[in-house]
Amino acid sequence: MSGSTKQTGFATRAIHHGYDPLAHGGALVPPIYQSATFAFPTVEYGAACFAGEEAGHFYSRISNPTLNLLEQRIASLENGEAALALASGMGAITSTLWTLLRPGDEILLGSTLYGCTFAFLHHGIGEFGVKIKHVDMADLAAVEAAISPATRVIYFESPANPNMHLADIAGVASIAHRHNALLVVDNTYCTPYLQRPLELGADLVVHSATKYLSGHGDITAGLVVGAKALVDRIRLEGLKDMTGSVLSPHDASLLMRGMKTLNLRMDRHCASAQQLAEFLARQPEVELIHYPGLANFPQYALAQRQMSQPGGMIAFELKGGISAGRRFMNALQLFSRAVSLGDAESLAQHPASMTHSSYTPEERAHYGISEGLVRLSVGLEDFADLLADVQQALKASA
Ligand SMILES: Cc1ncc(COP(=O)(O)O)c(C=O)c1O
Repeated sequence: MSGSTKQTGFATRAIHHGYDPLAHGGALVPPIYQSATFAFPTVEYGAACFAGEEAGHFYSRISNPTLNLLEQRIASLENGEAALALASGMGAITSTLWTLLRPGDEILLGSTLYGCTFAFLHHGIGEFGVKIKHVDMADLAAVEAAISPATRVIYFESPANPNMHLADIAGVASIAHRHNALLVVDNTYCTPYLQRPLELGADLVVHSATKYLSGHGDITAGLVVGAKALVDRIRLEGLKDMTGSVLSPHDASLLMRGMKTLNLRMDRHCASAQQLAEFLARQPEVELIHYPGLANFPQYALAQRQMSQPGGMIAFELKGGISAGRRFMNALQLFSRAVSLGDAESLAQHPASMTHSSYTPEERAHYGISEGLVRLSVGLEDFADLLADVQQALKASA
C-alpha cells in the first residue's frame, strides 16, 4: 500500500499511514534513522534549513525521519493537522505549556490531574508567574465564571487520572474560543480510538504514549497533536530550546509497532474492564466504583456522548478504606503492583502513596483523590484469570 491512506479506516491508518515500503527498498517495517545529525549538500542548503526555508532534516532534537513518520501517523489518528513526538508524556506537557504561557498569563485546570502534571503546574511553571486556577470542567457555568482576560490556556484530562472524572470537551472548547483561550486535552486514558478531542473543538491533544499507544510497557514517549502552526511553535520553542525532550528514533519505531494493534488492544481492555467493573459494583466489600461504562456512573451520559467505549481503567474504594485497599493490593497475584497503565499486563496501584503523592493529603482531599482509592489498569490476560485474582484479593482484604 502506498503512503496515502487518508480515506481508509482507523486500523489501516495505524498500520500504513505515511509509509510506502517500495520507496524504502521494499522494507516492510519503516527503517530507524539512528542518526543525531544530517549532512548538508552545501552550506547554503544548511543555512536554508536553519532559516526554515528548506524542510530538510538537520538535527534530531528538531526533526528526524523516523519521528516524522510517527508524527504523521498520530496526526492522522487524532484527525489533526500535525504532531510532535517527545521523550515522555511529561516532555509533551511541559514543552507545550512552556511554549504557550508567559508570566502574568493564567491557566484553567481540571479539578484532578496526574500527579507530575499537578507538580509541574504548582511547583514548576506556577512559580514563574503563571497563575493557576482549578475548576470542574463538567460544570460549564463554573468554567465560564472562572475564565478571565488573562486566561490563555484551559487544560484537563478526561477521564482524569486517577478518579475518572470527565470534562465536557465540546462545551469547554466553545467557552475557550469565545474568550480567545486555547484548549489542551490530555487524551492518554482514551487514545484516539476511544475519543478525539480535536473533533470536539480542542486545539491541542497531548499524550503519554508510554501507556496505551505503545501498549507494552517498554518505552516512555509523549505526543502533541493539533494545528501545524501551534505544533511548529512547540517544536521550535518548547522542545528545541526549553525542554530538549526528544524521543529516540528506536523508541519511535517501538511506538509505531504498538500503535499497529491499538484498536484490537483497546477493544479487549474495554471489554474486560466493563465486566470487571460490573463485578466489583456488585460486591459487598466495595464502597464506591468509578467507571464510565456503569449506568450509575454520575457522568454516564457525557461518557456516552464523547467516548466510543469506557476505557480500560477502573478506580474503586473498599468499605474498609485504605487498610483494606492495602490488603487487597498485597494479595493480588496476577495483577502487578505497579504504576503506569495501558500495558498488556494488568496493574494495580494506590494513587495517594504513588502516582499522586506529589499532592499533600490536604490537596488530595481538596482535588477529589480519596486516600483509599485503588486504581486498576485492566490488561489483556484471560478475563477468567483476572476475575479469579480480584475475587481472591477481595476475600483477603476483608
Ligand atoms: C494522564 C497522564 N498524563 C501524563 C502522564 C505522564 O506521562 P509520562 O510518564 O510518559 O511522562 C501520565 C503518566 O502516568 C498520565 O497518567
